[in-house]
Amino acid sequence: IDESVTLQKALPFKFGAAVNNGLLRSKAAYRDVVIKEFNSLTAENAMKFSQLHPSENTYTWTEADYLVDFAQQNGKRVHGHTLIWYKNPPNWVLNYQGDAAAWDKLLKDHIQTVVTRYKGKVTSWDVVNEAVAENGTLRDCIWLQKLGPEYIDKSFIYAHQADPDALLFYNDYGHEFGPTKRTAILNLIAGMQQKGIPIHGIGMQMHTRYTQSNANIAAAINTAAATGLKVHIAELDIAMNPDNIQDLTYSAGLAEQQKAKYEYIVRTYNAIPKNQQFGITTWNVGDADTWIRGEYSRPDWPLPFDDNYKRKAAYQGILDGV
Ligand code: XIL
Repeated sequence: IDESVTLQKALPFKFGAAVNNGLLRSKAAYRDVVIKEFNSLTAENAMKFSQLHPSENTYTWTEADYLVDFAQQNGKRVHGHTLIWYKNPPNWVLNYQGDAAAWDKLLKDHIQTVVTRYKGKVTSWDVVNEAVAENGTLRDCIWLQKLGPEYIDKSFIYAHQADPDALLFYNDYGHEFGPTKRTAILNLIAGMQQKGIPIHGIGMQMHTRYTQSNANIAAAINTAAATGLKVHIAELDIAMNPDNIQDLTYSAGLAEQQKAKYEYIVRTYNAIPKNQQFGITTWNVGDADTWIRGEYSRPDWPLPFDDNYKRKAAYQGILDGV
């Protein structure tokens, strides 16, 4: 292994990771890999609504500030994730009583307080995350119930007012699952573009699996690029145990298949126009800190670094893609 090679040096676009402050503080091997390999950082959780704004008149900035300071000290881009998400409203929002104007103000105040604080420090934001359901309709959530479908446009307008230089993304998952959800996402974005809503990028989470077809992955990346917007593969990981087998072991054969899938994704992404390549971000750093183990209660090995933050075959697959 040539330790002078790193992802951030080898790749012609930004390569990022979603990071966890607890691990940055406590685990040297983790922190060292983050500093060495990546040049863009996303907070895994620290910038979500509940974490930043746990009660109506309280903002808790400590963790988000820590990440932004860490990134600045180490010369990393920061991608903000996420201003509005169906999953993360705190209880005070769920229980909030107010008329339409009051809900509008709540949305605007949150977005503008956060974006203003990090103006000039956070390059880009996932403004709205996961607004589209699997069947292609807008997902039911408190924002849809209280503000109607306009909550999406409004979120972008408010974010843009607070920081006209920030690049604003719509982020979702499942572009590679098939046409139903993908088409709905692309239609949503096309509608925003037609209305002149300030949207600059499409975030594809790409929480995928090694059995996903290359054709579906190519369709996801190439249709996103066809919007003309910047394209961020925003939460990449490649699950190796999608069937939840509790005693599965990560064989050399599986590792090779994962390597090939990472290579294919990077190769396909590298072929879209350069000025649309916002970058690729993996969701977490190494297999030890993957969200998938906790989320699905199963063994899995979805990342390019192993449980000890050593490079896997998947790492070489990423390098081979360019
Ligand atoms: C996940 C985090 O990784 C977990 O730690 C947390 O418990 C739940 O959220 N799509 C997203 C991310 O947009 O915000 C999610 O992150 C993973 C799926």
